[in-house]
Amino acid sequence: MKKNIVLIGYMGVGKGRTARMLSEKTGMYAVDCDDLIESLTNLKVKKIFAEFGEARFRELERFTAEWLEKSVTRTVISSGGGFLKVPNLKNIGHIVYLHGEFDNIIETIFNHPNVKKKIKKRPLLQNLDQARELYYERLPMYKTAADLIVNVDDREPKAICEEIIEKLDITEM
Ligand code: S3P
Repeated sequence: MKKNIVLIGYMGVGKGRTARMLSEKTGMYAVDCDDLIESLTNLKVKKIFAEFGEARFRELERFTAEWLEKSVTRTVISSGGGFLKVPNLKNIGHIVYLHGEFDNIIETIFNHPNVKKKIKKRPLLQNLDQARELYYERLPMYKTAADLIVNVDDREPKAICEEIIEKLDITEM
């Protein structure tokens, strides 16, 4: 088994939640790329986009990806929706794409008690038409980048984790 698991997928598909549950079940640590970027810059993602632009954020993602490759082992990494474009993605670990249909992802976000916060913190989710376009633009890229594709629609987080553990042959603690 490669050293890490990298969860990729569209905004709001449940990468962070899945990483934390996988961590709990396997004893691997979980880290989140956006959290790493926020701690490195002491700025929220939203603020980085607003003040320095998306290009600066993508640069920070590439920097974080380099650090992860060099420094992190036996860890579940939840990434931002655009992290799949970092050039060294495959060197970081097993790539697991969490797939949900666009309408299901949006519905889940809108049904969440913290819907306002969930949308506000994501600069690329401000306009639904653009968000849909981005989803379909990225869909083939997520699939190509993935070592494993896991469907998340209408499934409990526990079942999703169990599938990843089984298919990647990770020993549970
Ligand atoms: C982004 C997704 C966000 C965050 C940033 C950009 C994207 O993370 O990295 O707002 O490009 O899809 P989540 O996927 O956790 O929402």
